[in-house]
Amino acid sequence: MIFEIVADGGCKSYVIGCEATCSAAIIDPNLNQLDRYQGIANREGLRIKYIFETHTHADHFSAAAQLAKLFDARVVMHRDSPAPHVDIHVEDGHLIPLGQLRVQVIHTPGHTRDSVCYYVEDHLFTGDTLLIGGTGRSDLPTGDPAQLYSSLFDKLLSLPGETLVYPAHDYKDLGSSTISTEIAGNRRLKPRTEAEFVELMQSLNLAAPTHLTEALRTNMTGGKTVQQMLGEAGESVPFISMKELNARLGQQRNDLVVLDVRERDAYSTAHIPGAMHLARGQLELKVDEKFPDPGIEIITVCTVGKISTLAAATLRELGFVRAVALDGGMKQWREQGFPIDSGEDPALLI
Ligand SMILES: [Fe+2]
Repeated sequence: MIFEIVADGGCKSYVIGCEATCSAAIIDPNLNQLDRYQGIANREGLRIKYIFETHTHADHFSAAAQLAKLFDARVVMHRDSPAPHVDIHVEDGHLIPLGQLRVQVIHTPGHTRDSVCYYVEDHLFTGDTLLIGGTGRSDLPTGDPAQLYSSLFDKLLSLPGETLVYPAHDYKDLGSSTISTEIAGNRRLKPRTEAEFVELMQSLNLAAPTHLTEALRTNMTGGKTVQQMLGEAGESVPFISMKELNARLGQQRNDLVVLDVRERDAYSTAHIPGAMHLARGQLELKVDEKFPDPGIEIITVCTVGKISTLAAATLRELGFVRAVALDGGMKQWREQGFPIDSGEDPALLI
């Protein structure tokens, strides 16, 4: 079996495939690793047919929708998964053919209602149901500790002891484990009654993952992450360095506009000398009033360089083809000692 681990910090995803046919699948792909999956598929000559998701992730951004489009692959998830980009909804006991391999679905609710494990050729991809030396948490949306107990003790632990365990998270970079190793050494799996297990899980008091709501929003709906929005904007606009902008300010050019897109009070406190003000929220509505010539060079500025990138991308979409964003923002501009003005000149307000 073709098998490769792709790590993104503590998040693990896996590329598996049939050696005889080069049919392959990616399990729990991470949006940060899009190029890696493509690189592996190209290098190994794989035809990625499926994206297997073990559950709706709340802690990282899934690349399932993007990879499905890229590879013309099918997204596989449990039937309780809400994501609109799922192509094949599966249930406990289903088999998905992957070349000459058969990937078995084991429904293991508890971490989430839609959690499944994928079992193929003595490899068990456990998602966040069973971790190495631990288990997934059961306190996030749709989690249920009693269901997790049953999924672990009634289902996973009854698999052959030599079964290899590959979880979706492996913060200590342990790689893999086996069912028998986990039964012997995983303290969360010590023999307990269901009530004792539920009590243990409820007493963990874990902090919510960062980006919880954003991850759930994008993973459940196929919507874009904020980073994706910024990334796409960043790919469509050039940037200008602070040093270069500072030099141009001295040239007193009249075909160049520095456009500060922060809120007005921030602008009044300190802005680049001569910068005009138009808040990002008003950009589309007011830009025509002030700039009748779409050929003008507009350099957008904000606090740290993100909103100005979005603003420059919007201006380019509107036809201001020479819009660029300052590489950095006012925060850095001030820290580096470049000149500033304060107050408001009515001629510079839009
Ligand atoms: Fe999870």
